[in-house]
Amino acid sequence: MKKNIIVTVPIPEDVQTYLQQYCEIKKLHPRAEDLHLHLPKAEGLLTSGLAINDSLLDNAPQLKVVSNKSVGYNNFDINAMKKREVIGTHTPFVLDNTVADLVLGLMLSVARRIPELDQYVKQGLWTKSIDQQLFGTDVHGATLGMIGMGRIGEVIAKRAIHGFNMNTIYYNRNRKEEVEKELGVKYRQLDELLQSADFVVLMTPLTKDTYQFFGKKQFSLMKGSAFFINASRGATVDEPALIEALETGQIRGAGLDVFEKEPVDVTNPLLKMEQVVTLPHIGSATLKTREEMAWLAARNLVHALTGKGSVYRVV
Ligand code: DGY
Repeated sequence: MKKNIIVTVPIPEDVQTYLQQYCEIKKLHPRAEDLHLHLPKAEGLLTSGLAINDSLLDNAPQLKVVSNKSVGYNNFDINAMKKREVIGTHTPFVLDNTVADLVLGLMLSVARRIPELDQYVKQGLWTKSIDQQLFGTDVHGATLGMIGMGRIGEVIAKRAIHGFNMNTIYYNRNRKEEVEKELGVKYRQLDELLQSADFVVLMTPLTKDTYQFFGKKQFSLMKGSAFFINASRGATVDEPALIEALETGQIRGAGLDVFEKEPVDVTNPLLKMEQVVTLPHIGSATLKTREEMAWLAARNLVHALTGKGSVYRVV
């Protein structure tokens, strides 16, 4: 018998056709008013970012699997899922290179002031050669401080070292000596990293331990000329502390793909700052990668529901 599933994320047609072999699909917006009406029958949920907590699970007694179409799974209340033996899966590997490309893009954008100078040209302000107040900062040869050296951290480091000849240092919960040997990255304690990096890149997953772990103290240790890049989760950072560090010139600029609240509030002061490049959480958003994520999430869901095949399980 086909399994009842709810899909709250866009999926390509061929992925839908695959799912239909095994499942009856109800497509809903994650904030759909009638989501709660369909949850009681659902055995599977293909989603991203939807909070899977006690209140949702109480209303979904048949639920066996939540398949995230994302590598991050901070939307999972792991204890609540474990209590009910609900499986949680995610989509690692397929997005590593795409996210790494974006991080390098953010570094180049803030350092060379690309969006700001794009506006300068488009607004007709380019009437003579630009003066030095608009000059940027070199990325090549600078020191990259990676916080979080998981799979994505490693591919960012590879690009930084081989593409931009950057001196790359990292901080991670566990030291990774194999990666140090392979890539030539050096381990530093967090404070030391912050004091010497020209680019601080935050790539740590959001967990109870990392919630707002980057705050006033961490910004105060950064160099005044340094840039802060976040493409992990907004809630890893104390956002008011970031705003203050930028307003007071404690740090030079920031490249942000993620925010504490998403979509970001239009009144957020970060949106008014020229030295900040903002993006709408597009780390993995290329057509090819999102399609691969959809396939992986669909296979995870079907395999977990049918008990056949392997899944990328996190709960
Ligand atoms: C993820 O997969 O967790 C990314 O943040 C999506 O862009």
